[in-house]
Amino acid sequence: MATERATEISQAQIAVHWKEEEYVRPTTKFVGQANLVDPAVTERFSEDHFPECFREYADLLNWSQYWHTTLDTSNPPFWKWFVGGKLNACYNCVDRHLAKYGNKAALIFVPEPEDEPVYTITYQELFTRVNEVAAVLRDFCGLNTGDRVTIHMPMIPELPITMLACARLGIVHSVVFGGFSGEAAGLRAADSGSRVMIYADGYYRNGKIVDHKPSADIAVALAEKEGQNVEKVLVWRRHYGQCLSTKPMVPGRDYFMDEVLKDFKRAKVDPISMDAEAPLFLMYTSGTTGKPKGCQHRTGGYLAYVTGTSKYYQDIHPEDVYWCMADIGWITGHSYIVYGPLALAATSVLYEGAPNYPDAGRPWRIAEQLDVNIFHTSPTAIRSLRKTGPEEPKKYNYHFKHMTTVGEPIEPETWRWYYDVVGKREAVIVDTWWQTETGGFLCSTKPALDPMKPGSTGPPVLGIFPIIYDEEGKEVATGSGKAGNICIRNPWPGIMQTVWKDDDRFVKQYYAKYCKNRQSKDWRDWPYFAADGAVGPPDGYYRILGRVDDVINVAGHRLGTKEIESACLTVPEVAEAAVIPVVDEIRGRMPVVYVSLKPGVSDGTRVKEEIVSTIETMIGKIARPKAVNIVPDLPKTRSGKIMRRVLAAISNTMDTGDVTTLANPDVVELIRRQVQGEGPVVMKEGPEDVKRFGESE
Ligand code: WT7
Repeated sequence: MATERATEISQAQIAVHWKEEEYVRPTTKFVGQANLVDPAVTERFSEDHFPECFREYADLLNWSQYWHTTLDTSNPPFWKWFVGGKLNACYNCVDRHLAKYGNKAALIFVPEPEDEPVYTITYQELFTRVNEVAAVLRDFCGLNTGDRVTIHMPMIPELPITMLACARLGIVHSVVFGGFSGEAAGLRAADSGSRVMIYADGYYRNGKIVDHKPSADIAVALAEKEGQNVEKVLVWRRHYGQCLSTKPMVPGRDYFMDEVLKDFKRAKVDPISMDAEAPLFLMYTSGTTGKPKGCQHRTGGYLAYVTGTSKYYQDIHPEDVYWCMADIGWITGHSYIVYGPLALAATSVLYEGAPNYPDAGRPWRIAEQLDVNIFHTSPTAIRSLRKTGPEEPKKYNYHFKHMTTVGEPIEPETWRWYYDVVGKREAVIVDTWWQTETGGFLCSTKPALDPMKPGSTGPPVLGIFPIIYDEEGKEVATGSGKAGNICIRNPWPGIMQTVWKDDDRFVKQYYAKYCKNRQSKDWRDWPYFAADGAVGPPDGYYRILGRVDDVINVAGHRLGTKEIESACLTVPEVAEAAVIPVVDEIRGRMPVVYVSLKPGVSDGTRVKEEIVSTIETMIGKIARPKAVNIVPDLPKTRSGKIMRRVLAAISNTMDTGDVTTLANPDVVELIRRQVQGEGPVVMKEGPEDVKRFGESE
């Protein structure tokens, strides 16, 4: 085991370290209006009050039947939350707001082309449209509660409308990020057993029309190959009555939604009262093997958790205009564009396009135009907006009260720009650490109660009790300055239920590593392994270093190195492939590909292009590598394992360590010169007060 680990490299090991920063306090103006100002909340959510503390979140929802048991731990780690309770997620996000907020904006859609008008969907209109779509799903597609539907759509309002229509009927939606390839969508459709897929014809991105419909044909073909028949493909048109795609519709399979909807005008579909434990959706994410896993989220616990955290940590009030500049195709969008904000009757802004289009002032113009007062985005977006338009925010008259960062560690320098320039020193910042699996936030400051600290995610959120373990399962003391594996000691309502159709993988991936006793029914014996490296400083403000497994977080989006390697190996000329993470100034991390070729291949440039295009078609443009290095051989141990750690050290200009025991030590220097040039060995160093990941005392 030890040798196997030593061949691999994780993000945490190439983490960029920085010094502890001073606290920054929220303004009194922010505190004066915040949802959460009572310090007693910490006591209410203390370990003594676990799990009943989470009633406070569940009570933010309307239940058609109240639950009798808050947490059932009889079958660890398959926790059950709010057992006996019944509710409908769509009802909670739409119907229940009609009496008071029917004419208030629920969604504001901002198209990428700036000359196309912004349009607003009120709660009343959302209700009407969701009902009509639900009628299509039920009566035209014949879908029932518990069926799965794969939705491969860009950021247009029809995406949340379709999700809510599924939720209304207890149909399990599986949204695949629009930027993923047709192959990726087809694989997920097959795994989830979807007989209906939902698409859009096209969308605007970076000033161009993206023809999205071809992905549907690829996805259906791939699903078919995997044994899943897709009977119907519903295609939303970005412009009514006009098609952005050049691809023909397949008769008897493909249907334009606007045409089907003509038969369902003003149809009403009663929301189905669902068990709290009924699955609400699947969200596929990259894991340690090539195959992405379907994280299955429950209805009651999930909705309670995202509603509670949206209220307390995003500080959302119904009168706020909230803009999360992320994609609904990721968990951030599910929890904090759709379900959390709509459950609180907020106005949620949806932006179709690229943050920098047509220039780096675009987000700030949108903020001014719509009077956005809560803004949420990733460090990658902040870095890129800062690089291309450092002075742009000053030109626009908007005022944020609250800003969020999510998805990757944010370095203090970027944090300062976000705070000083974007937030104009008026907005509080929360740095929220969490994962697809966790449903909602795990660490963040309470915006009105805790001071901020640039570069640290902050304390655990209410009702979450972390612990850091070393590889051997010994607790790493908080304040020791040592990094380890961050785990969560207790269950919480937002945690996924299982991996779709794969309970074993769920247990293995998240609980086996630190489970104290597999027979135990006590949750205290079942810590959740997050696969992130972290340091716990004396003040309890955690610093997340990044993944400890072979997952790379590119621009806050998760990719498995094994998935990218498998794609490379499908290129006929490639003999061996290794993918490693490299630090990138804008995107945080990016994959770098190393390959050796089969004998007799001469045209390296063509092979490189082929590798890049294969990765793009099999996964998506998001996985495009920062570099492809064709090398004579990959460094290997004597037992033949590829030393990814050595390759990552070279690409990140870090120490390669002792390589003399390798099977082919000479190749290391050859590769180093090829990648770094002929100069002397250069090495980066971090500050001395933080030990690097895995470093011993
Ligand atoms: C991984 C999860 C959470 C929604 C978006 C990403 C990294 C997430 C932070 C943060 C440092 C962070 C972790 C985590 N991460 N937030 N605030 N600071 N790292 O969800 O695709 O499931 O990725 O993102 O490494 O494990 P995801």
